[in-house]
Amino acid sequence: MIFATNFKTNNTRNSTRLYIESLKEFIMENEIKDDILVFPTSTAIDSFSLPENIRVGVQNAYPVEKGSFTGEIGLEQIAEFGIKTILIGHSERRTLLKEPQELIVNKFNYFKQKGFEIVYCVGESKEIRDEGFESAMEYIWSEFDGIDISYEKLTVAYEPIWAIGTGVSAKTKDIDEVLSSLRVKIKCPILYGGSVKSSNIKEIISIKDCDGVLVGSASWEVESFCKIIKNGIKG
Ligand code: 13P
Repeated sequence: MIFATNFKTNNTRNSTRLYIESLKEFIMENEIKDDILVFPTSTAIDSFSLPENIRVGVQNAYPVEKGSFTGEIGLEQIAEFGIKTILIGHSERRTLLKEPQELIVNKFNYFKQKGFEIVYCVGESKEIRDEGFESAMEYIWSEFDGIDISYEKLTVAYEPIWAIGTGVSAKTKDIDEVLSSLRVKIKCPILYGGSVKSSNIKEIISIKDCDGVLVGSASWEVESFCKIIKNGIKG
């Protein structure tokens, strides 16, 4: 299983360090072998001494080594800390920041060429979901336009926008339906994200094609993320 936490715009440099130290302790004490991914804010990335199954990644980066891209970070700023994991295509970047598919594809290709582990996010809005399952799938597939789904270091995260940050996860049946459809073509691990918490993790992780979770709000405190992991690995 893969347990990933997306800090979004939460935690400071200091609290991130404390978080990662506690998380490491928990993982090592409990001899957890599952993959744990942590995506802190870019100001909190650093070199952490971690076992191989805990990896720190970036939530975003511009597809350049360095240059004139105000407000962005590039490969040079990431490589300084030996980071080789990136989140691409999160719905908050697609919608709030109007990131177009073309830029997302450029990012994907750039970081693929640099050998990064990529967690690639897709997910439909409430309006599209309300049109029905077929429309939702059509939209989700369109978010794979230009993306090499056979990339060996790819993980896909299905995050329906209507379930993000609402406290109400998608229903197991709905998640199952989407993940099984994706599984026809997507052979890499597939995560679910959207209001995952310690109380619903068992049910989510038991979905046939679900290989893990990408958690936001319920994971910003380390105790809470550890509880999700603990409940999740027990199955
Ligand atoms: P929440 O867990 O807060 O719904 O966020 C999910 C998410 O967007 C993770 O990337």
